[in-house]
Amino acid sequence: MPDQGMPADVIAVGPVSGLQYVRLQASMAEAMEAMELAAFPTALPEDLYSAAELIDLSREFPQGTFVGFDGDGRVEPVACGLGIRVDFDLTSPQHNLHNLIDEADSASGDDPNGEWYYGTDIIVRPDYRRRGIGKELYNLRKQVCLDLGLKGIIAGGVIPGYAEHKKTMTADEYIDAVRAGELYDRTLTFQLGNGFDVLCALENYIKDPAVDNYASMIVWHARDEEDDSTSQGGSST
Ligand SMILES: CC(C)(COP(=O)(O)OP(=O)(O)OC[C@H]1O[C@@H](n2cnc3c(N)ncnc32)[C@H](O)[C@@H]1OP(=O)(O)O)[C@@H](O)C(=O)NCCC(=O)NCCS
Repeated sequence: MPDQGMPADVIAVGPVSGLQYVRLQASMAEAMEAMELAAFPTALPEDLYSAAELIDLSREFPQGTFVGFDGDGRVEPVACGLGIRVDFDLTSPQHNLHNLIDEADSASGDDPNGEWYYGTDIIVRPDYRRRGIGKELYNLRKQVCLDLGLKGIIAGGVIPGYAEHKKTMTADEYIDAVRAGELYDRTLTFQLGNGFDVLCALENYIKDPAVDNYASMIVWHARDEEDDSTSQGGSST
């Protein structure tokens, strides 16, 4: 819980970073769009959130959005974790986020009856990375799953390190090597370290020639967290 004296819209203060986390608001959309473009320099803008799409998301599922600010100034966001609720069949993992959103009845793709939290984006500004902010964002998302009774978090994760190995390995071989700890991927290794499993490579998930359009299907099960807290007799994050 935020300390007394914090701005009223602060929903959490990062226990490690001290960042103030608030829900996505329409007024942040332009700055967030710029952060997206800077975080995924080799991706096509159409694969990233536009300001208009961010405004839709802020209206339809604010509970699943977290934007981190450093201090009360609120000049620009330094981190975000965004997502929507979806139904998803893990036995047929191949998918594309555009299709998932287009097939939904809402503008953002959020299905209020969806059983999974689909992580559409997690970004930490480069000068704030490797300080535990990504972990804080995952903990906030995990708590949303527990609060809303969702099955867990799923996402198509980028695998930037594959660019250096794509000539010698398939995307699935690369993912296996990262899972086994033989190769380091700055995104997938971080996700595995946060309790995610990686199921397989996702073909044509994004238009990013650097990685031949591949991503990875990742999943975190809320049930495991609940089982852990029950067996330890404590509460989760
Ligand atoms: C992926 C991303 C969100 C991670 O954010 P982050 O804030 O750097 O994440 P964390 O600080 O929690 O963890 C990152 C690493 O720093 C390490 N770390 C955390 N605190 C640290 C500290 N004080 N000192 C040294 N290392 C630290 C973590 O152990 C982790 O190590 P790992 O890579 O071996 O797993 C960030 O790199 C990013 O925005 N990347 C570009 C966008 C992207 O790829 N998003 C994912 C889309 S699927």
